Amino acid sequence: MTQFSRITGTGSYLPPRRVTNADLAAQLAATGVETSDDWIVERTGIRARHFAEPDVTSSELGVHAARNALEAAGRQASEVDLIIVATSTPDMVFPSSATILQHKLGVGGCAAFDVQAVCSGFVYALTVADAMIRTGSARCALVIGAEVFSRILDFSDRTTCVLFGDGAGAVVLEASDTPGILASDLHADGKHVGILCVPGTLSGGKVLGEPLLKMDGQAVFKLAVGVLESAARATLAKAGKTEADIDWLIPHQANIRIMQGTARKLKLPMDKVVVTVDQHGNTSAASIPLALDSAVRSGQVKKGDTLMLEGVGGGFTWGAVLLDF
Ligand code: ACO
Repeated sequence: MTQFSRITGTGSYLPPRRVTNADLAAQLAATGVETSDDWIVERTGIRARHFAEPDVTSSELGVHAARNALEAAGRQASEVDLIIVATSTPDMVFPSSATILQHKLGVGGCAAFDVQAVCSGFVYALTVADAMIRTGSARCALVIGAEVFSRILDFSDRTTCVLFGDGAGAVVLEASDTPGILASDLHADGKHVGILCVPGTLSGGKVLGEPLLKMDGQAVFKLAVGVLESAARATLAKAGKTEADIDWLIPHQANIRIMQGTARKLKLPMDKVVVTVDQHGNTSAASIPLALDSAVRSGQVKKGDTLMLEGVGGGFTWGAVLLDF
């Protein structure tokens, strides 16, 4: 019998400190950086984001989301045989946040590793978990996106620091006789490394370069809309489906204008697009599972719905996963 994978539970977690645009504008004004709620809302759709306290790591946010997803799936941590954490803001240089999270879950022994594909990390991680389940390497996977992007923001650069937030989302993905995940499509093009990066590293006990986020916003914007359309179309074609089969588009939550542009190209009305960027900001690899869990818990997404998840981010990386929920 063909083996498929299916999401059996979703979960998410936001650190308690909610920072509105007005809060952030006041904080930035104290250091001579000017911004406003009007500018941020008009250009991005963001109204608020959550920031973790300085000692809270991505594995800490991720373990809360993972526990919520396990509870929703009716599974114990001991039943999990694969943990993948998508993050660009890991707890340490090594080991992976996945191994740290595994220990926090109170289990040991199963495979655990991180995936680094920036804002596309969750669709990459979900595709890897699906492949491992379909080939029999795993039966019950936790796939988590967890980020503390506030750690790598340059708060003197108003063109980037207003865009991002912290958070985590998770799914339990299990072996199933019926799909589940219908198709996926992943890409990267390293020639665009410079338009969105954190150009720093560690060497000899020192930081080399600048470990803060740099972005050419307009270049990212133009690339993002194009690749999100092509990835969605390629994924639909692989599954033998059309745009009309999509019940919900759950894109990476970077900017409402990127989401509107993508929906327009796919001829999908905005009431078929899950939007949480207004409340979460851009949480990179966490944004898609956070949006998915929020749509499941609010009753928007229902069992049996066909979902198109789409990520795009630094690298440049992009990809999509089509699934029956
Ligand atoms: N507050 C007030 N003014 C600002 C701010 C701010 N936070 N940031 C920039 N400005 C000013 C600029 O200085 C500029 O002023 P000037 O005309 O006097 O020079 C003016 O606003 C316009 O700046 P632009 O950069 O041209 O603004 P744009 O309309 O391109 O919007 C933005 C910038 C929101 C970053 C946009 O380019 C964008 O959405 N890009 C996509 C990037 C994105 O979403 N990245 C997320 C990470 S990537 C990912 O997840 C895929």
